[in-house]
Amino acid sequence: MAYAEIYGRSKSDPEGFWMDAAGAIDWIRKPTHALFADRAPFYEWFSDGMVNTCWNAVDRHVLAGRGDQPAIIHDSPVTHSKRVITYAELQSRVASLAGALKAKGITKGDRVIIYMPMVPEALEAMLACARLGAIHSVVFGGFAAAELAVRIDDCTPKAIIAASCGIEPGRVVHYKPLLDGAIDMATHKPEFCVILQREQEVAKLVEGRDVAWHSFQYGVEPADCVPVEGNHPAYILYTSGTTGAPKGVVRPTAGHLVALSWTMRAIYNVGVGDVFWAASDVGWVVGHSYICYGPLISGCTTIVFEGKPVGTPDAGTFWRVIDEYGVKSFFTAPTALRAIKRDDPEGKLVEKYDTSALQALYLAGERADPDTILWAQRHLNVPVIDHWWQTETGWAIAGNPLGIEPLPVKIGSPSVPMPGYDVQVLDEGGHPVPAGTLGAIAIKLPLPPGTLPTLWNAEARFRKSYLDHFPGYYETGDAGYIDEDGYLYIMARTDDVINVAGHRLSTGAMEEVLASHPDVAECAVIGVSDTLKGQSPLGFLCLNRGSTRHHEDVVKECVKLMREKIGPVADFKKAVVVERLPKTRSGKILRGTMVKIADGTEWKMPATIDDPAILDEITQALMTLGYAKAT
Ligand code: COA
Ligand code: AMP
Repeated sequence: MAYAEIYGRSKSDPEGFWMDAAGAIDWIRKPTHALFADRAPFYEWFSDGMVNTCWNAVDRHVLAGRGDQPAIIHDSPVTHSKRVITYAELQSRVASLAGALKAKGITKGDRVIIYMPMVPEALEAMLACARLGAIHSVVFGGFAAAELAVRIDDCTPKAIIAASCGIEPGRVVHYKPLLDGAIDMATHKPEFCVILQREQEVAKLVEGRDVAWHSFQYGVEPADCVPVEGNHPAYILYTSGTTGAPKGVVRPTAGHLVALSWTMRAIYNVGVGDVFWAASDVGWVVGHSYICYGPLISGCTTIVFEGKPVGTPDAGTFWRVIDEYGVKSFFTAPTALRAIKRDDPEGKLVEKYDTSALQALYLAGERADPDTILWAQRHLNVPVIDHWWQTETGWAIAGNPLGIEPLPVKIGSPSVPMPGYDVQVLDEGGHPVPAGTLGAIAIKLPLPPGTLPTLWNAEARFRKSYLDHFPGYYETGDAGYIDEDGYLYIMARTDDVINVAGHRLSTGAMEEVLASHPDVAECAVIGVSDTLKGQSPLGFLCLNRGSTRHHEDVVKECVKLMREKIGPVADFKKAVVVERLPKTRSGKILRGTMVKIADGTEWKMPATIDDPAILDEITQALMTLGYAKAT
């Protein structure tokens, strides 16, 4: 069947379409039907089925005689080590970890935070939770203790599984002190912490609370897979929203299994025995869906890469990994390719390796710029597939389904909607706009399986963030247009979210941090264009009246504060002190205009501006930082 037919069927016969897709999953009890709409607009899928994610990702492959196949390859240039874990080994490691967690009282529905770098044990921890029906929440290692504390208080975990350290080029990230600090800060306290001691740094354990990864598994009974309902939350993953408080995206178990399994075949064109690599981090949604669950559910070999696109040791690392393991489908963020292209513009390092196993390169996480796509196409000689998705959806909203039918690539577009996504571009009044017209991108409800049914403990926020603005639709927060051929173009965010090196960050959260500095009276953070990272945050600070502090000192303190409060991942390195911020007469800060001035793009004086002269001051300030060049 071709794409149009498959997509059409997902709209005309969603029950039939998704029940067929559900056939790829091992059920303990098959669901009676696919969509459960009784609590609309809170939709659920396969709710009355009984299933276990770990069984589908691990045990069933061993049962099928594929125990000797590599499940996980850990390739770690930062620790100079490589390790292969077969499906049989994975099964026994996960069953043992789950057994130890169970012995300490973890049961179905308990939350477990996982705070780990790119080591196979991170995936094992996720799978061990899934085995018990416990709900994991993985927190990215680049977040500071305060961000971890917020997540501890929101999902109230019974246990935290962490590593002693992570390795960033040139420095060791001391996870354990960050973890201890976060637990001190949080109101909720976990009952126990499991610490994976890495040889690069052995952490001090807190007596009575911390147990060591290996010793706490000693002599335990391995745990079996616990059946859970189809709508049972598999995990919570926090993502940035408009305010400082992160949103806990809930992933439902059965929809997740069905949708990911469908995407592995239809989008990534891989199956049993193929090597699939997503060069992301387990702390992000890409890591959940395509480092851990998707490839394992489909019986692929997944690569856990602990390194960077450049500098570990050079811009040829990605091509070396593709060559060494015969990667068939590869997924990364455009920013990683831009970093490689910057170091190796002629693609000389690509030529050093045999990348002939590679069938396609997939990009997501941010807009893929044409230069980067063309560079990759030229040097890798494979289709470069941009696809668009979000933490909330867990899998591609739009893409090019190579496993069904390769559609013509239009550079600048992540192609066409995937099954179950009725994507529309709406005007402010919620009416669909004609082809080619820019508007808010929304998806007609219900969303397909695997997407978020709600936010953790925040049903009202779920409605407000996603459903209220355009009744009957899910609001994506992205703006763009659809062309005459039905291809989507994602142009910008409609909220205060910025995208730095493929990482989604909230300028609102950053403003809260700056506002907490004792000398800052008022502030704004904008995302300015960055040739490497897509966007980069820039702060504007108005100091308290009469402040005699040196501006440079305050800026330095703010940069430090952001690193302490949000973490290095915020990549907040630049701020400038200004007298006033440009505002509308009703007091709204004109961030959009500031972005245009900074980027040197065309801008118009907003009709509602309170005092136009302020924009001259802002332009001057931006010029001192090297921005606002074309204005
Ligand atoms: N733990 C601790 N710190 C981390 C971290 C982690 N897991 N990941 C990143 N950081 C730190 C970095 O060390 C850096 O710290 P610094 O300010 O002390 O240098 C900071 O966070 C910013 O990191 P990053 O945005 O990664 O910038 P970089 O300059 O180190 O690297 C790239 C630039 C382009 C190579 C890098 O951003 C990259 O590989 N991007 C791809 C992103 C990606 O795959 N995203 C997945 C979304 S799908
Ligand atoms: P995250 O939830 O961190 O995956 O970020 C999701 C956001 O990243 C989307 O809402 C978009 O703003 C942006 N994004 C992801 N993929 C793409 C893409 N292929 N093209 C343009 N923007 C993208």
